[in-house]
Amino acid sequence: MKLFNQDLPRGASSMSYAGLLERLEILRSTLRWANRLDRPDIEKLLRQANAVRDEVMQLSHKERFVQAVAGQGSSEHAPEQTPGERRQALLARSFVFEGTFGDNPRLLDALEIAEKAAPTDLPVLVDGESGTGKELMAKVIHANGARADKAYISVNCGAIPESLIESELFGHKRGAFTGAATDRKGKFESAHKGTIFLDEIGELPLQGQVKLLRVLQSHEIQRVGSDETIAVDTRIVAATNKNLRKLIELGQFREDLFYRLSVIHVTLPPLRERKDEIPLLLAYYGDEAAEALKRRPVAMTPALRAFLLDYAYPGNIRELRNLMYRLACLAGDTADIAHLPEDIRPAAPVRAQASSPAPPASLAEAKRAASDEAERACLERGLKDVGGTVAELARRWDMNRSHLQILLKKHGLHSKDFRRH
Ligand SMILES: Nc1ncnc2c1ncn2[C@@H]1O[C@H](COP(=O)(O)OP(=O)(O)OP(=O)(O)O)[C@@H](O)[C@H]1O
Ligand SMILES: [Mg+2]
Repeated sequence: MKLFNQDLPRGASSMSYAGLLERLEILRSTLRWANRLDRPDIEKLLRQANAVRDEVMQLSHKERFVQAVAGQGSSEHAPEQTPGERRQALLARSFVFEGTFGDNPRLLDALEIAEKAAPTDLPVLVDGESGTGKELMAKVIHANGARADKAYISVNCGAIPESLIESELFGHKRGAFTGAATDRKGKFESAHKGTIFLDEIGELPLQGQVKLLRVLQSHEIQRVGSDETIAVDTRIVAATNKNLRKLIELGQFREDLFYRLSVIHVTLPPLRERKDEIPLLLAYYGDEAAEALKRRPVAMTPALRAFLLDYAYPGNIRELRNLMYRLACLAGDTADIAHLPEDIRPAAPVRAQASSPAPPASLAEAKRAASDEAERACLERGLKDVGGTVAELARRWDMNRSHLQILLKKHGLHSKDFRRH
């Protein structure tokens, strides 16, 4: 039962159709070649099959979400091709999104470039601010190319000490330096026939840049301390959140390497320049966070929603995602400005807006505002009835006390103001 004992490749990076197919294939051949199975083996197979099923469900959740939204968008305008139609066209061409969604024209531009670049072996440079989806884009390029079922190796050039970077990328020979106890294969060799993702390429020291340039020119590497050349067939996708042209001016990045790496250049726009996607991302990550934390999706007060729709998100999509997880963790049924991290919370008190509310943007918004007002009124009355004793109110309402405290905080209510003197 050799195949059965192989570890199935797991983890977030295997969340691609190619990865899932591979795992299904392993399960199938295990079953096909097994003469008989004992109970523990059957259980192990079942667990593996369940894990694959869960991931398929997650993927299909994303697909369903994307399709539902694309369906809504396409009825809006009728120029030559609407963003919804562009996305549908990508879907129809079996483009693998790897969970990327959004209908912003600039994002679709990037995806269409990725679609064309993927089947080639041309190097791609992805730039954009932190959290704009550069790594996701690299995975998209890998997943849509002929190398999809081969290795995808990610190297963060900024996270490896300068003295080790060459050995990390190209490997080393035993004794090449102190601590090199055995021969070791580098990331380029591991990515042979597949894709190597060089993250934070702007952090690669100049000496490493020279070596990388050589690999790009000759498709060969040399392990540190060895004269032997080893042929590598590796597709390179590099990413940076730095302005490489500036680094070139400062003499910190080689111009020739820049041109080699950026045969195809994809720039991902910051979230503040594609604000039209914020509602979609809030809905998606709100859902995802609720599912991950096994709770009902959090409603938002109009003030919080208005803030999140207009916030500049210096950390881009990653920041938005993290915020939604934070809200899902800290808020009760409804999240408010008070649940935001202190450093991004707007200075003006939220309650000030209540006396002169902005007109609601939609019926749903109006409903939420009304429900918020009702919640506050109910809390005030409840506190009055119990003379400001939160524990008593929690008992009467059969609620968790800390949840009640959060609700009070959300509405700026202080139990001591309701104490009977
Ligand atoms: N268009 C998108 N649709 C859905 N999720 C996205 C999109 N773009 C990015 N994300 C999500 O945002 C998070 C950050 O993306 P990613 O790690 O690819 O960013 P990055 O540009 O590599 O960031 P950094 O520069 O900080 O390394 C991930 O959880 C990713 O799945
Ligand atoms: Mg990254």
